[in-house]
Amino acid sequence: MHKIAVLPGDGTGPEVVKEGLKVLEAAAEATGFEFEAETYDFGGDRFLATGEVLPDSAVEELKGFNAIFLGAIGHPDVKPGILEQGILLKLRFELDQYINLRPVKLYPGVDCPLKDKGPEDVDLVVVRENTEGLYVGSGGFTRKGTPNEIAIQESVNTRPGVERCIRYAFEYCRERDREKKLTLCGKTNVLTYAHDLWERVFNEVGEEYTDIATDYAHVDAICMWFVKNPEWFDVVVTDNMFGDIITDLGAIIQGGMGIAAGGNINPEGTSMFEPIGGSAPKYTGKNVINPLAAIAAVQMMLEFLGEKEAGRRIEDAIIESLGSGRIKSLSAGQMGMGTDEVGDLIAGMVREGA
Ligand code: IPM
Ligand code: MN
Repeated sequence: MHKIAVLPGDGTGPEVVKEGLKVLEAAAEATGFEFEAETYDFGGDRFLATGEVLPDSAVEELKGFNAIFLGAIGHPDVKPGILEQGILLKLRFELDQYINLRPVKLYPGVDCPLKDKGPEDVDLVVVRENTEGLYVGSGGFTRKGTPNEIAIQESVNTRPGVERCIRYAFEYCRERDREKKLTLCGKTNVLTYAHDLWERVFNEVGEEYTDIATDYAHVDAICMWFVKNPEWFDVVVTDNMFGDIITDLGAIIQGGMGIAAGGNINPEGTSMFEPIGGSAPKYTGKNVINPLAAIAAVQMMLEFLGEKEAGRRIEDAIIESLGSGRIKSLSAGQMGMGTDEVGDLIAGMVREGA
């Protein structure tokens, strides 16, 4: 029995989560696993009504689940940062979800903004460190508001934090078994302390993985090569901030936010899966948002829970629905059907196993 906490969140979050759960239900029936879902209403509306973002007691409660399925965080009436930090980042840190895993896979039938690139060229995974770096919130102001103000924001990189991320990336690359190539993305020519540590740990740990080819690229160069030669990459490991940036670039070369899903992974604890697109307030309640990213997040969640057959069925259904042109586009309002119909279509295909 998988215990799953569901946080639909803000904006279009609840709409896409509903379709994700529809597909989860279909996968459970089709492949014979059981799950129990409990919904929590944390998000902008609750904050505006009660002043509560995410109490510590809820964090403790969430640790008791096998996985968390998150919709979207961000509300137009709430100052940016409050919900992102108070819910999303708090969960990542408190649940020690130290990996942000972002598969970047272009499916057949999906419009790719890259000239002359197809599904065989865009199939990589970014392993982003998820609990350290610039996201720690270390630093402060001196003389705030004065003409001589100083703002310092420090990147925190610990040997154990860097090492567990890099080890995870090597293991993941081995298990993925595609090109068996791991690229470290950094900025060793400027970040001469933080990324010196990353580079040393990468080289040291790499010696234990003689079956994995290693490579290094500066983050600015990676931004060019993801566009020009995405086929050069298999698995890319990087720090929190650079990972944030290159995974959005990754999302756009796989067709955009309509399909991009991510996992916040604690291999020994409770992991959280999410469509990475955000709350999209302008599409809220219109039945036009694409739920495929949320459905892909459910696929990732099931794979992590060990339900490989269920995960495979969901991915097959996504591929088939896009490749056959039944879903016309990944963009909101241009799918050729409503949000709920996409969910119905995928759930039906998962049931049939086709
Ligand atoms: C992401 C998001 C978050 C991040 C924001 C919402 C804080 O952009 O998951 O990539 O920067 O990590
Ligand atoms: Mn981001």
